[in-house]
Amino acid sequence: MKKENLSKIKKLEGPPRIVKIFSEKEIKMVTDLYFSLPETLFNKKQNVRKKVWLQNYNKELDKIYVEKLKNELGNFRMDSLKDSKGQDYFGLFHESFSPLQLHVDSGFNKKEIIYKQVVTPLSPIGETVIFKNRWYGRSTSFTIDEEELKFKPKPDQNDRSSKHLGQKPFDKAVHEKYLTHIDIKNLQGLEVELIYNWKIGETLIMDRSHIHCSSSNIKDKKIGLTTFTKK
Ligand SMILES: [Fe+2]
Repeated sequence: MKKENLSKIKKLEGPPRIVKIFSEKEIKMVTDLYFSLPETLFNKKQNVRKKVWLQNYNKELDKIYVEKLKNELGNFRMDSLKDSKGQDYFGLFHESFSPLQLHVDSGFNKKEIIYKQVVTPLSPIGETVIFKNRWYGRSTSFTIDEEELKFKPKPDQNDRSSKHLGQKPFDKAVHEKYLTHIDIKNLQGLEVELIYNWKIGETLIMDRSHIHCSSSNIKDKKIGLTTFTKK
């Protein structure tokens, strides 16, 4: 599957940006919200705990969050799931205890004009590695494991693919420093665009077509908030 509106999607693309849009107090409010929300999923395999941002837990914060994103992104729509009343989730909180593998969050619908994803660190240590390489199919986990590649995803699950691979061997020094949780052969053909070093008070904004992963440097755990948007 390829996106139908490729040229529109590409027109909206740009380099990843790091912005400071939330005050210390607001970050604290977001963190408090995280701890008050019910747990949605604990994925033992990925070793990650996920919660969705449900509206109306903290209405003041709901409003602040959307307004601040609008200031940065202009008009956008949320592209996370919706709750039983049809209300958008405002984002996905992820608490990970081991580093995330190589993937892209390009979405599950080929008609949508995917836009930016907004990552706000809620814990101080770690990195997100963003590659120059892009992907315009469904959300995908990239792997060279033959067994894994046989996986047949449900409509809301990531594809598996090795079609991201290219010719050029991946940089050994970068692999050693940041990506030891990924087989270097699975990185062949990829080039780093940005290694974002998490800082509380900052927010990373990047195109949804970027292939990315976390670095192997996790101290205990990482907590972050990601909001996926579309036009
Ligand atoms: Fe991601």
